[in-house]
Amino acid sequence: MDILDAIKSRRSIRSFLPEPVPRGVIREILDAAIWAPSALNTQPWEFTVVGGEVLAGIKQGNIEKLLSGAVIHSPRTAYEGIYRQRRIELAKDLFQLMDIKREDGEKRAAWLQRGYRFFDAPAAIIISVDKSLEGTWSLFDIGTVSQAICLAALEYGLGTCIEDQGVQFPEVIRKHTGLPENKEIVIGIAIGYPDPMFPANTLISRREPLDGITAWLGF
Ligand SMILES: Cc1cc2nc3c(=O)[nH]c(=O)nc-3n(C[C@H](O)[C@H](O)[C@H](O)COP(=O)(O)O)c2cc1C
Repeated sequence: MDILDAIKSRRSIRSFLPEPVPRGVIREILDAAIWAPSALNTQPWEFTVVGGEVLAGIKQGNIEKLLSGAVIHSPRTAYEGIYRQRRIELAKDLFQLMDIKREDGEKRAAWLQRGYRFFDAPAAIIISVDKSLEGTWSLFDIGTVSQAICLAALEYGLGTCIEDQGVQFPEVIRKHTGLPENKEIVIGIAIGYPDPMFPANTLISRREPLDGITAWLGF
């Protein structure tokens, strides 16, 4: 696949076919993605790939925590101004495709739960960093490798969704993976073969036109 095509056609996928993803395929994707750039080539990323019963346990544990009202671990999500607006637009676009009305608490709750179940993906990649790296560029580096994973996945016909919902209860992840306390669980990536019939998978999320966010100086 052409590089520009891959960059422009990648979308967050929020429903997957039950078909498992072979371990060898995920391995090839990660083996490509580790060529992502990192600050001072520190390569801070560590991957925990989960599927089968382990992932099932995480999904169930997440839902139990969510329903119990447990504390969510997440960076600040209270956005203001244009950022809040974009967030609202995303939710509106998704809910419209999924035919979820604003006042339909039941459907909204069901939608929320999907994220905590890694959108029912057959596999997920959990990315962690050593806590000794706190305050360094490590989170930026996790971003570069995450995008590389999502793009590489396209080559194998796979869809992905980078998602923090799945790892918002780190105690659940630690319980089922054995990841120790000295590892910061940063993000999860749901991965699998996209369900072509799922309405939200057709979403082309909006983008600010380039001219509104770019300054050209000296040209
Ligand atoms: C750090 C990060 C966290 C995200 N967390 C979630 C999530 O928890 N649930 C979700 O549905 N999408 C999540 N997303 C996906 C974004 O909503 C998505 O990338 C954005 O709406 C743009 O859409 P696109 O990926 O289809 O281009 C996350 C993306 C990033 C980069």
